[in-house]
Amino acid sequence: MGIEKKLYGRTNEGKEVFLFTLKNSGGAAVEITNFGGIIVSILVPDKKGRFDDVSLGYDSLEPYMEPGPYFGAIIGRYANRIENSEFEINGITYHLAANDGKNHLHGGLKGFDKVIWHPQIVQSSEGECLELTYKSADGEENYPGNLDVKVIYTLTEDNAIKIEYFAETDKDTVVNLTNHAYFNLSGHASGDILKHKLKICADFFTAVSPEGLPTGEIREVKGTVMDFTDFKEIGPGLASGDEQIIFGQGYDHNWVLNGEKNTLKKAAELFDPESERRMEVYTTKPGIQFYSGNFLNVTEHVKDGAVYCKRAGLCLETQYFPNSLKHKHFPSPILKAGEKYRHTTIYKFFTA
Ligand code: BGC
Repeated sequence: MGIEKKLYGRTNEGKEVFLFTLKNSGGAAVEITNFGGIIVSILVPDKKGRFDDVSLGYDSLEPYMEPGPYFGAIIGRYANRIENSEFEINGITYHLAANDGKNHLHGGLKGFDKVIWHPQIVQSSEGECLELTYKSADGEENYPGNLDVKVIYTLTEDNAIKIEYFAETDKDTVVNLTNHAYFNLSGHASGDILKHKLKICADFFTAVSPEGLPTGEIREVKGTVMDFTDFKEIGPGLASGDEQIIFGQGYDHNWVLNGEKNTLKKAAELFDPESERRMEVYTTKPGIQFYSGNFLNVTEHVKDGAVYCKRAGLCLETQYFPNSLKHKHFPSPILKAGEKYRHTTIYKFFTA
C-alpha cells in the first residue's frame, strides 16, 4: 500500500539512519532500517486475526551497531563460513578477517549488516517498495572488486516479503547475499520455537565438521534427524544426540534444495500450531541454512522489553552453500566481472 519514512537514529559518526514502514491494505506491516538493511519487525495476523510481531530484534538503532546475532540483517559479501578465512580466485589468495575462530563468518568485522545503505522508495507493479543500494569498495573486508549491490524489499498485498538481490563487480569476486531474520511465529517475545513444525524441500544436506563447516559431503536426509521432507516438530531432533546436531550445537546446517537451479521454487514451510500462523519460503538460490537460534541469549535492548533465550527464534537463510569456495562440486559463489548476480527470496505469511 505504501511506505512511511522516519528518522531512526544517528550513527557514531553522526550519520542519519531511517526507519521505513511498509504496509499493505490488510494491516500487515514490516519495519526496515537502511542501517544494515535490517528487518526490525514483521507484523502479521494469526488465525483469529490478531497481529503480532514475528521477527526478533532490538528496541532501537544503537544495539544493532554492536556485534550481535545479526537480527534481520542483510549479510554480505559472503553469508556463513569460509574455512581458514581465505579463498583463491584467478591464482590470487585473499585473506579475510577470522571472526569465528579461525574461520570467516557473515562478511567479516564490518559486513553489509553494519553499513549504511542508500535508501529510496520506488514504484513497482506491486506498489511502493524500498530499494537499498550500497557500493562496496575494492578491498573492503579484503574482498576483491568494486561491488555495486542493490536489495529491493516489497511487502505484497498477500502478506509476502519479497527480497530481490542484485550485484555487479568490476573484478572477479565472491557474492553470497542473504537475510538473517529470526522468526518466531507465536510472536517474537513468546518463548522458544521448539514446537514449530518445519518442512524443507530438500532430500540432501551438506554435512558439517565439528567446527560447523561443510566437509564437502552431500548426505541424504532420509531416516535422519535432518529429514524435514514432511512437516516435523523441531524440538525432538535438537534433543536427539545426533552427531550432526552435536557438531552444530543444534540445527545449523545447509540443505540442498530440490528443483531447478536459479528458478523460484518453494524452499521451506514453517507452521506454528499455537497461533496457526504459517510461513512459506521461496527462493532462486541453491541452498537454505536452517539455524535454530542455538547461541541466542539476549537480555537487554530487546523490543517490548523482552528477553530472548536460546532458540527464541529460528533463521531460514537462503544462500550458496557455506564454504563453497573450497568444495568445487558445490554451486559456485564466484561472480565474474561484468556478470550479474540476481536472486529472489520470498517469505510469505498466512494462516490455514
Ligand atoms: C550461522 C550460525 C551463527 C549465526 C550467527 C548463522 O547464520 O549459521 O552458525 O552462529 O548465524 O548469529
